[in-house]
Amino acid sequence: MLAKRCCGSAPGAGLASELQRLTFLPVSVRTLHGSAAAAQQPAEDVSGKEKPTAAEPQVRHDAGDEGARKNYDEGYIAPHPGSTNTQGHEVSADGSYMLMHPVYTKEYVLSIAPRHKKPASAMEWTGYWTVTAMRKSFDLATGYRPDRWMSAPKWLTRILFLETVAGVPGMVGGMLRHMRSLRTMKRDHGWIHTLLEEAENERMHLLTFLSLKNKNNLFFRTMVIGGQGVFFALYMLFYSLSARHCHAFVGYLEEEAVKTYTHLLKQIDAGELPEWAEKEAPVIARNYWKLPPNATLRDVILAVRADEACHSHVNHTFSQLKLTDDNPFSGKGSELVA
Ligand SMILES: [Fe+2]
Ligand SMILES: [Fe+2]
Repeated sequence: MLAKRCCGSAPGAGLASELQRLTFLPVSVRTLHGSAAAAQQPAEDVSGKEKPTAAEPQVRHDAGDEGARKNYDEGYIAPHPGSTNTQGHEVSADGSYMLMHPVYTKEYVLSIAPRHKKPASAMEWTGYWTVTAMRKSFDLATGYRPDRWMSAPKWLTRILFLETVAGVPGMVGGMLRHMRSLRTMKRDHGWIHTLLEEAENERMHLLTFLSLKNKNNLFFRTMVIGGQGVFFALYMLFYSLSARHCHAFVGYLEEEAVKTYTHLLKQIDAGELPEWAEKEAPVIARNYWKLPPNATLRDVILAVRADEACHSHVNHTFSQLKLTDDNPFSGKGSELVA
Protein backbone atom coordinates (compact mmCIF):
# COMPACT_ATOMS: atom_id res chain seq x y z
CA MET A 1 0.00 0.00 0.00
CA LEU A 2 1.38 3.36 -0.90
CA ALA A 3 1.76 6.03 1.73
CA LYS A 4 -1.29 8.12 2.34
CA ARG A 5 0.39 11.18 0.83
CA CYS A 6 2.49 9.68 -1.92
CA CYS A 7 2.59 12.68 -4.16
CA GLY A 8 1.28 16.19 -4.54
CA SER A 9 1.90 19.82 -3.88
CA ALA A 10 3.76 20.92 -0.81
CA PRO A 11 1.69 21.61 2.27
CA GLY A 12 0.73 25.24 2.55
CA ALA A 13 0.17 25.64 -1.16
CA GLY A 14 -3.52 26.06 -0.51
CA LEU A 15 -5.89 28.91 -0.96
CA ALA A 16 -4.64 30.84 2.07
CA SER A 17 -1.04 31.02 0.88
CA GLU A 18 -2.19 31.63 -2.68
CA LEU A 19 -4.23 34.62 -1.50
CA GLN A 20 -1.30 35.81 0.58
CA ARG A 21 0.95 35.75 -2.45
CA LEU A 22 -1.66 37.43 -4.62
CA THR A 23 -2.24 40.21 -2.14
CA PHE A 24 1.51 40.61 -1.68
CA LEU A 25 2.21 41.18 -5.36
CA PRO A 26 0.49 44.53 -5.94
CA VAL A 27 2.41 45.97 -2.99
CA SER A 28 5.62 44.66 -4.51
CA VAL A 29 4.84 46.18 -7.88
CA ARG A 30 4.23 49.53 -6.25
CA THR A 31 7.56 49.20 -4.49
CA LEU A 32 9.28 48.27 -7.73
CA HIS A 33 8.14 51.36 -9.56
CA GLY A 34 7.49 53.86 -6.80
CA SER A 35 10.26 53.52 -4.22
CA ALA A 36 11.38 56.91 -2.91
CA ALA A 37 14.96 55.63 -2.53
CA ALA A 38 15.03 54.55 -6.15
CA ALA A 39 13.48 57.77 -7.35
CA GLN A 40 16.26 59.72 -5.66
CA GLN A 41 19.02 57.75 -7.41
CA PRO A 42 21.08 59.96 -9.71
CA ALA A 43 20.73 58.96 -13.35
CA GLU A 44 24.40 59.69 -14.01
CA ASP A 45 27.55 59.91 -11.87
CA VAL A 46 30.76 61.86 -12.38
CA SER A 47 32.24 59.10 -14.54
CA GLY A 48 29.46 59.66 -17.00
CA LYS A 49 28.25 56.03 -16.63
CA GLU A 50 24.49 55.61 -16.46
CA LYS A 51 23.12 54.21 -13.21
CA PRO A 52 19.88 52.21 -13.02
CA THR A 53 16.78 54.21 -12.22
CA ALA A 54 13.40 53.07 -10.96
CA ALA A 55 12.17 53.00 -14.53
CA GLU A 56 15.04 50.71 -15.56
CA PRO A 57 15.15 47.73 -13.16
CA GLN A 58 18.46 45.92 -13.10
CA VAL A 59 19.50 42.60 -11.56
CA ARG A 60 22.44 42.42 -9.18
CA HIS A 61 24.00 39.01 -9.61
CA ASP A 62 26.45 39.26 -6.72
CA ALA A 63 24.12 40.15 -3.91
CA GLY A 64 22.70 36.84 -2.60
CA ASP A 65 19.37 36.61 -0.76
CA GLU A 66 20.03 39.62 1.43
CA GLY A 67 21.03 41.64 -1.59
CA ALA A 68 18.02 40.46 -3.53
CA ARG A 69 15.74 41.76 -0.78
CA LYS A 70 17.64 45.04 -0.70
CA ASN A 71 17.44 45.38 -4.45
CA TYR A 72 13.75 44.74 -4.31
CA ASP A 73 13.10 47.32 -1.60
CA GLU A 74 15.18 49.83 -3.52
CA GLY A 75 13.02 49.32 -6.56
CA TYR A 76 15.40 47.31 -8.71
CA ILE A 77 13.72 43.95 -9.26
CA ALA A 78 11.43 41.40 -7.63
CA PRO A 79 13.25 38.50 -5.96
CA HIS A 80 13.18 35.23 -7.88
CA PRO A 81 11.40 32.33 -6.17
CA GLY A 82 14.05 30.52 -4.17
CA SER A 83 15.37 33.70 -2.58
CA THR A 84 13.39 35.57 0.07
CA ASN A 85 10.59 38.08 -0.22
CA THR A 86 10.54 41.51 1.38
CA GLN A 87 8.99 40.08 4.55
CA GLY A 88 11.93 37.74 5.00
CA HIS A 89 9.98 34.53 4.30
CA GLU A 90 11.27 31.75 2.12
CA VAL A 91 9.37 31.89 -1.15
CA SER A 92 9.78 28.21 -2.00
CA ALA A 93 9.34 25.34 0.44
CA ASP A 94 13.00 24.31 0.66
CA GLY A 95 14.87 27.21 -0.88
CA SER A 96 15.17 25.36 -4.20
CA TYR A 97 13.75 26.45 -7.52
CA MET A 98 12.51 22.89 -8.11
CA LEU A 99 8.93 21.81 -7.55
CA MET A 100 8.05 19.25 -4.87
CA HIS A 101 10.94 16.83 -4.24
CA PRO A 102 9.92 13.29 -3.45
CA VAL A 103 11.90 12.02 -0.47
CA TYR A 104 11.40 8.38 0.46
CA THR A 105 12.49 6.09 3.24
CA LYS A 106 14.38 2.91 2.37
CA GLU A 107 11.49 0.81 3.70
CA TYR A 108 9.02 2.62 1.49
CA VAL A 109 10.93 2.23 -1.78
CA LEU A 110 11.53 -1.45 -1.03
CA SER A 111 7.80 -1.94 -0.47
CA ILE A 112 6.95 -0.87 -4.03
CA ALA A 113 5.97 -3.69 -6.37
CA PRO A 114 4.09 -3.90 -9.67
CA ARG A 115 0.38 -3.35 -9.10
CA HIS A 116 -2.54 -3.54 -11.46
CA LYS A 117 -5.86 -1.79 -11.36
CA LYS A 118 -8.32 -4.13 -13.01
CA PRO A 119 -10.15 -2.16 -15.70
CA ALA A 120 -13.74 -1.62 -14.63
CA SER A 121 -15.14 0.65 -17.34
CA ALA A 122 -14.92 1.18 -21.10
CA MET A 123 -12.64 4.15 -20.39
CA GLU A 124 -10.20 2.01 -18.41
CA TRP A 125 -10.31 -0.86 -20.89
CA THR A 126 -9.46 1.63 -23.66
CA GLY A 127 -6.46 2.92 -21.69
CA TYR A 128 -5.34 -0.57 -20.75
CA TRP A 129 -5.51 -2.01 -24.27
CA THR A 130 -3.85 1.06 -25.79
CA VAL A 131 -0.94 0.74 -23.37
CA THR A 132 -0.74 -3.03 -23.91
CA ALA A 133 -0.62 -2.60 -27.70
CA MET A 134 1.98 0.17 -27.45
CA ARG A 135 4.14 -1.83 -25.06
CA LYS A 136 4.06 -5.02 -27.12
CA SER A 137 4.92 -3.12 -30.32
CA PHE A 138 7.76 -1.22 -28.63
CA ASP A 139 9.16 -4.39 -27.03
CA LEU A 140 9.04 -6.19 -30.36
CA ALA A 141 10.75 -3.33 -32.20
CA THR A 142 13.51 -3.00 -29.61
CA GLY A 143 14.02 -6.71 -28.87
CA TYR A 144 13.09 -6.36 -25.18
CA ARG A 145 11.74 -9.35 -23.29
CA PRO A 146 10.70 -9.15 -19.65
CA ASP A 147 12.08 -12.65 -19.02
CA ARG A 148 15.56 -11.92 -20.42
CA TRP A 149 18.51 -9.94 -19.11
CA MET A 150 19.80 -6.92 -21.07
CA SER A 151 23.19 -5.23 -21.18
CA ALA A 152 23.73 -1.91 -19.37
CA PRO A 153 23.99 0.14 -22.61
CA LYS A 154 20.71 -1.32 -23.87
CA TRP A 155 19.00 -0.58 -20.56
CA LEU A 156 20.27 2.97 -20.71
CA THR A 157 19.01 3.54 -24.24
CA ARG A 158 15.61 2.10 -23.41
CA ILE A 159 15.23 4.13 -20.21
CA LEU A 160 16.38 7.37 -21.85
CA PHE A 161 13.93 7.04 -24.71
CA LEU A 162 10.98 6.15 -22.46
CA GLU A 163 11.70 8.98 -20.04
CA THR A 164 11.68 11.52 -22.88
CA VAL A 165 8.14 10.36 -23.60
CA ALA A 166 7.06 10.05 -19.95
CA GLY A 167 7.61 13.76 -19.33
CA VAL A 168 4.98 14.75 -21.89
CA PRO A 169 1.57 13.91 -20.30
CA GLY A 170 2.00 15.94 -17.11
CA MET A 171 3.16 19.00 -19.01
CA VAL A 172 0.35 18.76 -21.59
CA GLY A 173 -2.28 18.17 -18.91
CA GLY A 174 -0.97 21.03 -16.77
CA MET A 175 -0.74 23.36 -19.75
CA LEU A 176 -4.24 22.59 -21.02
CA ARG A 177 -5.77 23.01 -17.57
CA HIS A 178 -3.87 26.29 -17.17
CA MET A 179 -5.25 27.52 -20.49
CA ARG A 180 -8.74 26.36 -19.55
CA SER A 181 -8.53 28.30 -16.28
CA LEU A 182 -7.50 31.44 -18.19
CA ARG A 183 -10.13 30.94 -20.89
CA THR A 184 -13.05 30.23 -18.56
CA MET A 185 -11.77 32.61 -15.87
CA LYS A 186 -12.34 29.92 -13.27
CA ARG A 187 -10.11 28.21 -10.69
CA ASP A 188 -8.35 24.98 -11.56
CA HIS A 189 -9.00 23.22 -8.21
CA GLY A 190 -5.33 22.43 -7.67
CA TRP A 191 -4.55 19.98 -10.48
CA ILE A 192 -2.01 22.06 -12.40
CA HIS A 193 0.76 21.86 -9.81
CA THR A 194 0.51 18.08 -9.40
CA LEU A 195 0.65 17.59 -13.17
CA LEU A 196 3.64 19.89 -13.57
CA GLU A 197 5.36 18.15 -10.65
CA GLU A 198 4.92 14.87 -12.49
CA ALA A 199 6.42 16.37 -15.66
CA GLU A 200 9.43 17.74 -13.77
CA ASN A 201 9.87 14.47 -11.91
CA GLU A 202 10.01 12.56 -15.22
CA ARG A 203 12.50 15.06 -16.60
CA MET A 204 14.67 14.48 -13.53
CA HIS A 205 14.58 10.74 -14.32
CA LEU A 206 15.85 11.60 -17.79
CA LEU A 207 18.60 13.92 -16.53
CA THR A 208 19.69 11.35 -13.95
CA PHE A 209 20.19 8.59 -16.52
CA LEU A 210 21.67 11.03 -19.04
CA SER A 211 24.49 11.62 -16.56
CA LEU A 212 25.50 7.97 -17.18
CA LYS A 213 25.88 8.45 -20.92
CA ASN A 214 28.39 10.54 -22.80
CA LYS A 215 26.70 11.00 -26.12
CA ASN A 216 23.53 10.05 -27.97
CA ASN A 217 23.90 9.25 -31.65
CA LEU A 218 22.01 10.93 -34.45
CA PHE A 219 19.57 8.03 -34.92
CA PHE A 220 18.59 8.08 -31.24
CA ARG A 221 18.13 11.83 -31.19
CA THR A 222 16.01 11.64 -34.35
CA MET A 223 13.81 8.98 -32.76
CA VAL A 224 13.39 11.13 -29.65
CA ILE A 225 12.40 14.19 -31.67
CA GLY A 226 10.01 12.19 -33.85
CA GLY A 227 8.55 10.38 -30.85
CA GLN A 228 7.95 13.62 -29.00
CA GLY A 229 6.34 15.27 -32.01
CA VAL A 230 3.87 12.44 -32.51
CA PHE A 231 3.13 11.73 -28.85
CA PHE A 232 2.80 15.40 -27.86
CA ALA A 233 0.36 16.13 -30.68
CA LEU A 234 -1.76 13.02 -30.10
CA TYR A 235 -1.84 13.40 -26.32
CA MET A 236 -2.86 17.04 -26.57
CA LEU A 237 -5.64 16.16 -29.01
CA PHE A 238 -6.98 13.32 -26.88
CA TYR A 239 -6.61 15.27 -23.62
CA SER A 240 -8.73 18.03 -25.16
CA LEU A 241 -11.37 15.44 -26.08
CA SER A 242 -11.33 13.43 -22.83
CA ALA A 243 -8.89 14.17 -20.04
CA ARG A 244 -10.25 11.26 -17.96
CA HIS A 245 -9.45 8.73 -20.68
CA CYS A 246 -5.93 10.16 -20.88
CA HIS A 247 -5.40 9.87 -17.12
CA ALA A 248 -6.58 6.25 -17.23
CA PHE A 249 -4.12 5.64 -20.09
CA VAL A 250 -1.24 7.20 -18.10
CA GLY A 251 -2.24 5.18 -15.03
CA TYR A 252 -1.69 1.95 -17.01
CA LEU A 253 1.42 3.32 -18.73
CA GLU A 254 3.00 3.97 -15.33
CA GLU A 255 2.10 0.44 -14.21
CA GLU A 256 4.33 -0.73 -17.06
CA ALA A 257 7.12 1.60 -15.91
CA VAL A 258 7.00 0.01 -12.44
CA LYS A 259 7.27 -3.43 -14.06
CA THR A 260 10.26 -2.38 -16.16
CA TYR A 261 12.20 -0.87 -13.25
CA THR A 262 11.38 -3.96 -11.16
CA HIS A 263 12.88 -6.11 -13.93
CA LEU A 264 15.99 -3.91 -13.91
CA LEU A 265 16.35 -4.18 -10.11
CA LYS A 266 15.99 -7.97 -10.26
CA GLN A 267 18.77 -8.11 -12.85
CA ILE A 268 21.03 -5.94 -10.69
CA ASP A 269 20.33 -8.05 -7.60
CA ALA A 270 21.04 -11.24 -9.56
CA GLY A 271 24.52 -9.93 -10.32
CA GLU A 272 23.80 -9.68 -14.04
CA LEU A 273 24.64 -5.98 -14.24
CA PRO A 274 27.96 -5.67 -12.42
CA GLU A 275 28.60 -2.20 -13.93
CA TRP A 276 25.54 -0.85 -12.11
CA ALA A 277 25.53 -3.00 -8.97
CA GLU A 278 27.85 -0.85 -6.87
CA LYS A 279 27.89 2.29 -9.00
CA GLU A 280 27.72 5.56 -7.09
CA ALA A 281 24.47 7.52 -7.36
CA PRO A 282 24.82 10.49 -9.73
CA VAL A 283 25.09 13.80 -7.87
CA ILE A 284 21.96 15.17 -9.56
CA ALA A 285 19.99 12.22 -8.19
CA ARG A 286 21.45 12.49 -4.68
CA ASN A 287 20.38 16.12 -4.54
CA TYR A 288 16.93 15.57 -6.01
CA TRP A 289 15.84 12.60 -3.88
CA LYS A 290 17.95 13.78 -0.92
CA LEU A 291 19.84 10.48 -0.84
CA PRO A 292 22.75 9.88 1.59
CA PRO A 293 26.33 10.49 0.34
CA ASN A 294 26.97 6.73 0.04
CA ALA A 295 23.85 6.09 -2.08
CA THR A 296 24.23 3.79 -5.08
CA LEU A 297 22.62 3.71 -8.50
CA ARG A 298 20.39 0.93 -7.17
CA ASP A 299 19.03 3.34 -4.54
CA VAL A 300 18.29 5.81 -7.32
CA ILE A 301 16.43 3.19 -9.35
CA LEU A 302 14.40 2.28 -6.27
CA ALA A 303 13.40 5.95 -5.93
CA VAL A 304 12.56 6.22 -9.63
CA ARG A 305 10.35 3.13 -9.38
CA ALA A 306 8.56 4.65 -6.38
CA ASP A 307 7.95 7.80 -8.45
CA GLU A 308 6.42 5.71 -11.25
CA ALA A 309 4.13 3.96 -8.76
CA CYS A 310 3.08 7.37 -7.51
CA HIS A 311 2.32 8.58 -11.05
CA SER A 312 0.20 5.50 -11.64
CA HIS A 313 -1.76 6.08 -8.45
CA VAL A 314 -2.26 9.79 -9.16
CA ASN A 315 -3.41 9.26 -12.74
CA HIS A 316 -5.75 6.38 -11.89
CA THR A 317 -7.23 8.63 -9.22
CA PHE A 318 -7.59 11.61 -11.59
CA SER A 319 -9.35 9.37 -14.11
CA GLN A 320 -12.07 8.75 -11.50
CA LEU A 321 -12.72 12.45 -10.85
CA LYS A 322 -14.72 15.13 -12.58
CA LEU A 323 -12.51 17.84 -14.04
CA THR A 324 -14.01 20.35 -11.61
CA ASP A 325 -13.35 18.23 -8.51
CA ASP A 326 -10.69 19.34 -6.05
CA ASN A 327 -7.31 17.67 -6.51
CA PRO A 328 -7.12 15.23 -3.57
CA PHE A 329 -3.29 15.40 -3.69
CA SER A 330 -3.18 19.14 -3.18
CA GLY A 331 -1.97 19.56 0.36
CA LYS A 332 -3.63 16.64 2.07
CA GLY A 333 -3.02 13.49 0.03
CA SER A 334 -5.54 10.78 -0.71
CA GLU A 335 -6.31 7.15 -0.07
CA LEU A 336 -4.98 4.72 -2.63
CA VAL A 337 -7.60 3.77 -5.19
CA ALA A 338 -5.43 1.79 -7.57
FE1 LIG B 1 10.02 8.10 -15.28
FE1 LIG C 1 6.22 8.06 -14.53
